[in-house]
Amino acid sequence: MKKGKFIVLEGPDRCGKSTQAKMLLNYLITQGNDVILTREPGGTRTAERIRQIVLEPGLSVTAMTELFLYEASRAQHTEELILPALEAGKTVLCERYTMSTCAYQGYGRGIPLRIIRTLNRIATQNLVPDLTLVFLMSDKYFTERGEYLYSDRLEREDIAFRKKMRRGYLNMIKRTPNAYLVDADKDIMDVQTRVQEILKEHGI
Ligand SMILES: Nc1ncnc2c1ncn2[C@@H]1O[C@H](COP(=O)(O)OP(=O)(O)OP(=O)(O)O)[C@@H](O)[C@H]1O
Ligand SMILES: [Mg+2]
Repeated sequence: MKKGKFIVLEGPDRCGKSTQAKMLLNYLITQGNDVILTREPGGTRTAERIRQIVLEPGLSVTAMTELFLYEASRAQHTEELILPALEAGKTVLCERYTMSTCAYQGYGRGIPLRIIRTLNRIATQNLVPDLTLVFLMSDKYFTERGEYLYSDRLEREDIAFRKKMRRGYLNMIKRTPNAYLVDADKDIMDVQTRVQEILKEHGI
């Protein structure tokens, strides 16, 4: 039986998920919570190996293969790490989860959402986040916040792709219970303040 809270940080590349997740981890620890921070794709040894295949530049990966790799990584990560941690009463912070797959493989690559939702349900064993924070930023920050970064295969997608995904995230926020849009254009501390407010509204 799940006792801990499952909090997911979502949003496109470079919107600040990792930055905010680390700050939130520290905040929750200071508040006396037993909390772990993890990410997708990855989070366990096997899932991290799958992540390497998905993100390797130059490797040929079809849209459907990509979907199955993400779901394989998710199945392993959920069963091996997330569910046991929640059962032990821990708060689990996770960078990316099911919404990312709908955004990239669904809205982005055009795989029907009903297929993705079905696979998501199988891979997660029907686990759904207690809270989903969706960080969205203006496209102009995409280069600014990542100029010196190494771009993986997926980050080399173009502006049109990122626009499609943004629309996808906005749609999903509307239809997902306990999903919140967080304005990621603001500076790092303001974004974190908003995140902590949302958690408090949820009694976390
Ligand atoms: N609110 C902000 N304002 C300005 N710069 C930011 C902000 N948030 C994060 N950054 C910077 O933008 C870059 C990307 O941030 P971060 O790695 O946290 O994003 P991410 O969403 O985890 O990216 P990815 O999807 O690639 O993992 C980092 O250099 C970070 O310091
Ligand atoms: Mg990150």
